[in-house]
Amino acid sequence: MSKIRLPGLVDAHVHLREPGYEHKEDFASGTCAALAGGVTTVLDMPNTNPPTSTPERLAEKARLAAAKAVCDVGLFVGATNTEGDAYLSAAERACGLKIYVNDTFGSLRIDTLEMMHRLFRSWAEKAAQVGYRMHGAAKGLGPITVHAEELMVPVCLALSHLYNVPLHIAHVSRRSEIELIRKAKERGLPVTCEATPHHLFLSVEDLPRLGPLGDMRPRLATPDDVAALWEHLDVVDVFATDHAPHTLAEKGVGASEAPASPPPGVPGLETMLPLLLTAVHEGRLDVQDIVARCVDNPRRIYGLPAQPDTWVEVDVDAAYTLTNVGLKTRVGWTPFAGRRVYGRVERVVLRGETVYQEGEVLAKPGFGKVLFQESIAGR
Ligand code: DOR
Ligand code: ZN
Repeated sequence: MSKIRLPGLVDAHVHLREPGYEHKEDFASGTCAALAGGVTTVLDMPNTNPPTSTPERLAEKARLAAAKAVCDVGLFVGATNTEGDAYLSAAERACGLKIYVNDTFGSLRIDTLEMMHRLFRSWAEKAAQVGYRMHGAAKGLGPITVHAEELMVPVCLALSHLYNVPLHIAHVSRRSEIELIRKAKERGLPVTCEATPHHLFLSVEDLPRLGPLGDMRPRLATPDDVAALWEHLDVVDVFATDHAPHTLAEKGVGASEAPASPPPGVPGLETMLPLLLTAVHEGRLDVQDIVARCVDNPRRIYGLPAQPDTWVEVDVDAAYTLTNVGLKTRVGWTPFAGRRVYGRVERVVLRGETVYQEGEVLAKPGFGKVLFQESIAGR
């Protein structure tokens, strides 16, 4: 048995569903799933109901998270067509601005170039006053993070370049996209990107087996697209799950008739680390590749505070089969059920406290901190 200690992981892309969809997940169940996966910081997306598109809604979400979370939580604000940059006065309390330019779950979607101009311009103007955390400002803004697929990738790259706003491209999944991002980085554009475990370890070839559980946005890609992510791993700054829980019933599992429009998305918090450690076991990654992409880089990109006295104890030789049984996510399933993996999270220590051990979450609700909420008045 070989045990290692990792720093607490950051999952920079999760949907904890509160408020509005607590039957799928909430800050309690979602952060318990995080600890079980060795994750001690999650960054929560704004496509809740209502969406996190105003300062009031961000404050309300922060209150919910502060009462219930067992790991640390950062909150994104999101842009809407109708409210524009209404969130702007609370921008420093968010980990970043999320813009959806493709259709996915929820109502957030920007669909005019005019609004894209406004969002990038106002973020740049605000940053001119308060700075970017990734540039070392004590307080300040995070990046603009985009859900941009295919042709929307160059649109966002161009805006980021023209307004000089740091851009983080979520869940890159296609060869065409990662090759473009490589070129943009080579030209010195302020861009970073992330890849999910499902786009690294699944492809369209898994769809017949997965059925409705293989549906997410971006959709699963071809084996050549998957190979491209691995070939260009040096361009991938972050591994993040896009943990997007929906119930089996909503997905149409066990239903006699398929639902008309099943919601896209798969949970991922509890399976990312064993999947990545299995890639280490197979010689496709080393542990430092994981630490760079799940700790150091997300911390730098989002300007996250360090977590003192925090670590994850992992038995890297423990071999087992992933299963739906015992998962902490409220929806109780994973698209990786049945997969043989190496690496089990045995214990998680957060700020000196054992918060997870042998399958049990020991932290009390509210032990997690909500990041960036300290008063910014009088700055
Ligand atoms: O598959 C997805 N599900 N992709 C997204 O971008 C959103 C997510 C969700 O919130 O369910
Ligand atoms: Zn997402």
